[in-house]
Amino acid sequence: MSRIVYVNGAYLPEEEATVSVFDRGFLMADGVYEVTSVLGGKLVDFDGHAARLARSLAELDMVQPISHEALLAAHRELVARNGIEEGLVYLQITRGNPGDRDFAFPDPETTTGTVVMFTQNKPGLADSPAAKVGMKVISIPDLRWRRRDIKTVQLLYPSMGKMAAKAEGADDAWFVEDGKVTEGTSNNAYIVKNGRIITRELSQDILHGITRAAVLRFAAEAQMEVEERSFTIDEAKEADEAFVTSATAFVMPVVEIDGAKIGAGTPGRVAARLREIYLEESLKAAI
Ligand code: PDD
Repeated sequence: MSRIVYVNGAYLPEEEATVSVFDRGFLMADGVYEVTSVLGGKLVDFDGHAARLARSLAELDMVQPISHEALLAAHRELVARNGIEEGLVYLQITRGNPGDRDFAFPDPETTTGTVVMFTQNKPGLADSPAAKVGMKVISIPDLRWRRRDIKTVQLLYPSMGKMAAKAEGADDAWFVEDGKVTEGTSNNAYIVKNGRIITRELSQDILHGITRAAVLRFAAEAQMEVEERSFTIDEAKEADEAFVTSATAFVMPVVEIDGAKIGAGTPGRVAARLREIYLEESLKAAI
């Protein structure tokens, strides 16, 4: 059975869904996106993702072509129509199709944004075997643009990072800039030293992860110590634990960085505890 996807208000079988060759998302990577996970058939932190979407659009002078309520309804409709229990909803909004190629932004009065949504079914996402083994990461220079706080669809360099990691037998890459770790290709990066959770402070250098915000809140509630500051790869290699967070990985332990084992080279207790709390609380609060 083919997936039902959403394009500009219509629910269509994926084979019938189309977007123009002149769409600015296709020609200019002029678009933003969100990934919201689904647990127990419900949306995790939808309001957080919707708020970041509105911010990304505003930072790029894009008009939001769909209301918050319509966005939520469409997410729920797709989850229901595709029978998703565990997985995700991908949402992309581009500046639309002006009917030709031009560097200048089109007039938003005449060119409305393109809205696309689809689901990815991932049974067993919460009980992922990868979380029990942990990930290996490599470090690479952060060559992305300087507005990483905007969740744009310009993902070529992160894709290259993922490929560089695979080529070295690792799972993912951590970006390094001015000697400090910024974040992972598609996740926020953390280390744990003497019980303290350390993660880079928010700025235009990193994406303001929705999972990051939730995990730091849960950590504080569980009386864990959190320090928001940048750290070097050498400091990470000397850490007791490392992990990443994202809407699809939740809390995922990192057991090796550039070939160096972190702690005992197995998933750490802080990461495991945070993953447990995050999944439990997210499932409870999902809508
Ligand atoms: N990526 N940093 C980057 C560069 C990301 O691409 C992501 C998310 C995150 C974590 O953000 P959040 O916790 O809100 O998912 C951090 C998504 C999952 C993706 O591109 O598929």
